[in-house]
Amino acid sequence: MLRQLIDTFGRVHRDLRISVTDRCNFRCTYCMPAEGLQWLDRGDLLTFEEITRTARLLVERYGVESIRLTGGEPTIRADLAGLVQMLSVLPVDLSMTTNGATLRRMAPDLAAAGLTRINVSLDSLRADRFAEITLRDDLDRVLDGIDAALEAGLEPVKINVVVMRGVNDDELVDFARFGRDRGVEVRFIEFMPLDADRAWSDDAVVSLEEIVARIGATFPLEPVPRTAAPASRFRYTDGGGRIGVVASVTQKFCDSCDRIRLTADGRFRNCLFAVDEFDLQSLLRSGASDDEVGELLEGAVRAKWAGHGIGRVEFIRPARSMSQIGG
Ligand code: 5AD
Ligand code: SF4
Repeated sequence: MLRQLIDTFGRVHRDLRISVTDRCNFRCTYCMPAEGLQWLDRGDLLTFEEITRTARLLVERYGVESIRLTGGEPTIRADLAGLVQMLSVLPVDLSMTTNGATLRRMAPDLAAAGLTRINVSLDSLRADRFAEITLRDDLDRVLDGIDAALEAGLEPVKINVVVMRGVNDDELVDFARFGRDRGVEVRFIEFMPLDADRAWSDDAVVSLEEIVARIGATFPLEPVPRTAAPASRFRYTDGGGRIGVVASVTQKFCDSCDRIRLTADGRFRNCLFAVDEFDLQSLLRSGASDDEVGELLEGAVRAKWAGHGIGRVEFIRPARSMSQIGG
């Protein structure tokens, strides 16, 4: 019988993010602390079998409908295509968020293994600024990776841009033009207080309202009716495509959030901003039955709070940064 992962507010959870590694070949300044992170030991990573077992249970028993692979940078996990192949037998939308730098080499294998679509994180279209943000001089490689993904049929390709005032907010219209020219949907993400070096402040957030106004002044936009997805979507009135805005800070969507997360070391999280994690790794390695694993999953979702309190004095940053939780 199909059960549901449901919290005390009645929200049903069907969207699973799986981080497959905490490592990354980039060092985005807002994501990784300058002094570097202590990487997980290899033995602490969930194996492909453990990931697949958990995913299967979540899909078959609890009706999870979409799985997104994240990192760190998922493509640096050895044999990622092998994992994709194992997961692709499940009836889900199977996607990935990547920095795009390795896609020229990997996109065909990932597509052949059953990956359906990807999001590429890209915060600047200017080579010097890209290098300043990521500490890697790889803009051309990422742009070529986006082309490779399109050629491999990993569509729709979406571009994630974290908008930071004074860092890249002068590129809003450039990104809009880029999306229109290449036929990809650009999703602008409000900067959230998850940055490793605690550079976040209210002033650094560029709101949905401002993003839409600034792009709309050049390319007029109109809202598209909301779906369950966290992005508010808008389309160009001239038919030039769409953009999305993820307004996690100024219009938080916690009330309709249906996401659950598994970290690379097998901690189950009920929210990006959760302070508590549930130790699935130990349970899986203790020989637990599916019923016992299910009990942990159900309990963890039941314990979910109403939503994050960014902007309130009680707000506590999670101990882990984004690269460790997995976007
Ligand atoms: N605020 C908003 N988005 C973030 N990401 C990483 N850190 C933050 C933050 N502090 C984004 C990445 C990537 C996705 C996984 O999350 O750029 O697109
Ligand atoms: Fe790597 Fe993504 Fe973090 Fe950048 S934001 S360092 S690409 S994990």
